[in-house]
Amino acid sequence: MARRKKIYEGKAKILYEGPEPGTIVQYFKDDATAFNAQKHDVIEGKGVLNNLLSEFFMTGLGNVGVPTHFIKRMNMREQMVRACEIVPLEIIVRNYAAGSLAKRLGLDEGGQLPRPIVEYCLKDDALGDPLVSEEHIAAFGWASQQDMDDILSLALRVNDFLSGVLFGVGIRLADFKIEVGRVYDGDFQRLILADEISPDSCRLWDIETGQKLDKDVFRRDLGSLTDAYTEVARRLGVLPRGGATPMAKPTLIN
Ligand code: TMP
Repeated sequence: MARRKKIYEGKAKILYEGPEPGTIVQYFKDDATAFNAQKHDVIEGKGVLNNLLSEFFMTGLGNVGVPTHFIKRMNMREQMVRACEIVPLEIIVRNYAAGSLAKRLGLDEGGQLPRPIVEYCLKDDALGDPLVSEEHIAAFGWASQQDMDDILSLALRVNDFLSGVLFGVGIRLADFKIEVGRVYDGDFQRLILADEISPDSCRLWDIETGQKLDKDVFRRDLGSLTDAYTEVARRLGVLPRGGATPMAKPTLIN
């Protein structure tokens, strides 16, 4: 097969030029990083699980009318997505106190917030993705006021959908991060959901036990990340037939 052109390599994904104009292939790597890549490991099977889970969430969101970049899954590690101009913001929606919010405001992790809180971080690894306000976003022109209105309503729709779907399988959506991209249809431009939605970019807690089923398992050394992601995938019914372990090695039978 002809070698594809690599467009970008990030911490967890590689982007290749897609097979058709205006498309991109997202390849999900097994690399796990935390604390701006100060902590790194390769977790066999993580890429496959995130590819399947992101497909599941993006397809579901598309079905309820949320515009996304997802076109189709190509194989166990790759999906075809619509090319877009990524808005340089990480949009975080929080339902429960956790992570950097809990730390910043001295909150106990696990408490329900009075209402969903939306935060914005500048997408800039060199700066460690700093929290920014809408004032910064407007003043530096990272997004327009119309964009910010659209981003807020998109983020809250994604929150409602994901919270409901996950609640149905006994999982609390504590918080998550999304990215959006700009696409052009003739003279019009609009924003669509881009990047990925997976346990790498969400905090997922078992409703009964509080067990963490997301990347905090890796960040905080709480056990097997593959087991946690597999549990999410199993509950949502997205694992391929016959397997709780999509990348399981063949077992010898004596
Ligand atoms: P935080 O509490 O560390 O700010 O994270 C909030 C949410 O955003 C959490 O669900 C994890 C996700 N997240 C990312 O997807 N990428 C990142 O680089 C960081 C820091 C957080």
